[in-house]
Amino acid sequence: MAESTSIVIFGASGDLTRRKLVPALYSQFRKGRLPKKLRIVGFARRDYSHEKFRELMEAAIKEFAPDAYDDSAWNEFAPSLFYVRGNVNEPLTGLDEFLREGEGKHCNRLYYLSIAPQFYEPLVKQLGSSGMTHEEKGWRRIIVEKPVGHDLASAQSLNRALHAVFEEHQVFRIDHYLGKETSQNILFFRFANTVFEPIWNRNYVDHVQVTVAESVDVGHRAAFYDSTGVVRDMFQNHLLQLLTLVTMEPPASFRADEVRNEKAKVLSAIRPVQGTEVAEETVRGQYRGYGAPEGVAPGSQTETYAAMRLFIDNWRWQGVPFYLRSGKALTTKTSEIIIQFRRPPHNMFSMEPGTSMRPNYLALFIQPDEGMHLRFEAKVPDTVAEMRAVDMEFHYADDFGKDAIPEAYERLLLDALQGDASLFTRSDAIELSWKLMDPILKEWERSKNPPLAIYECGSWGPTEADELLARDDRCWLRGC
Ligand code: BG6
Repeated sequence: MAESTSIVIFGASGDLTRRKLVPALYSQFRKGRLPKKLRIVGFARRDYSHEKFRELMEAAIKEFAPDAYDDSAWNEFAPSLFYVRGNVNEPLTGLDEFLREGEGKHCNRLYYLSIAPQFYEPLVKQLGSSGMTHEEKGWRRIIVEKPVGHDLASAQSLNRALHAVFEEHQVFRIDHYLGKETSQNILFFRFANTVFEPIWNRNYVDHVQVTVAESVDVGHRAAFYDSTGVVRDMFQNHLLQLLTLVTMEPPASFRADEVRNEKAKVLSAIRPVQGTEVAEETVRGQYRGYGAPEGVAPGSQTETYAAMRLFIDNWRWQGVPFYLRSGKALTTKTSEIIIQFRRPPHNMFSMEPGTSMRPNYLALFIQPDEGMHLRFEAKVPDTVAEMRAVDMEFHYADDFGKDAIPEAYERLLLDALQGDASLFTRSDAIELSWKLMDPILKEWERSKNPPLAIYECGSWGPTEADELLARDDRCWLRGC
């Protein structure tokens, strides 16, 4: 039995630590879910004392989780925070010594990579060469923040570097969308109920839309974003993960590998879009004014918006289009998945000429108003046969209270501490996702097709994205 647990956050002076990681750990501490003897050790180049680091983290919790802050809880939590100054490119012996001094004979360690991605491989090598990955004295795990790679080749290289010193079961690649309650609920909704699963297939589903819209622009992340773009930032990970949750087959159990096997199967069944198809099946956009901030290359072609049509070549989904879109500086922040069902096969009601029956759809709202809506037709009272679409709605806030939904990082950090990898991405899924996105990115770069469409800030993105659906006689179910 390990006597204590250390969490080491590499890149502890960064934004993620302040905004998400420490507030999430503090919240789990308040819920009494963290291991008893726990030390959280921040590691970065800045010259902080333990005290200074604690002060900064206290301010961060007050700023980013003000409702959770409580003086006495903070005073209990603060002594578990420590800081070690160092450079991830250099031997980590100083850090290892500091950790060993405070650990008993047996101690578990969770390393969190919250540093710039170019330092992932050097740091992983240092962890290996400093003997910090051996598990004789307790488990050793590593959480790798996204992005895992910039393309397929770099993702493979990082996976190789990780596998050189860690076993796959020690590696937790984070995608915070998987930690969102509403994303987790997709599998519960599908497989803990019997109503929808029988119709969750090509016989009943007309098409599926996945929208992850953000109203913010690239802001202070311009330099990072300009070399990334929305496909790398959002599609390769968040959108494809949401898509796998909606489309995967039921695993035999909820065990990490069984869930992840099914995800890998469906990812490998997505038909790659490549060559000249890219111009037809994808849209890339950039919001007006994107080039203004410092950090953006003059004439930058980086996409801040993308939309694409994908197909899944398997028995369940053959022929069903999946439309994905995501962008910055859009009209609102919303993440939602819409499953539109087929129209009734026969219309027995008399309707106005030129009108037809509207299809039912189910909307899974990932955020911000977490919940689900089922849209169906109802007879308008006191008419002979007039119909209107109505919504049956479920909002998490109504049933579970307005503060019921925790931050995604809370769950993910706890799962990593408990060794449950079901909400983390396995190496094969990462590589399969890149195999789908790489050809699109390469073709955009090579042929410049489709041309980069400029859209207005505060809109729903370029009109070309509407045309992508209009071609199939469909429209985005929001903003259409
Ligand atoms: C991150 C992206 O992974 O997700 C950001 O790097 C994006 O660009 C963010 O803003 C969106 O996350 P959420 O949880 O606010 O939808």
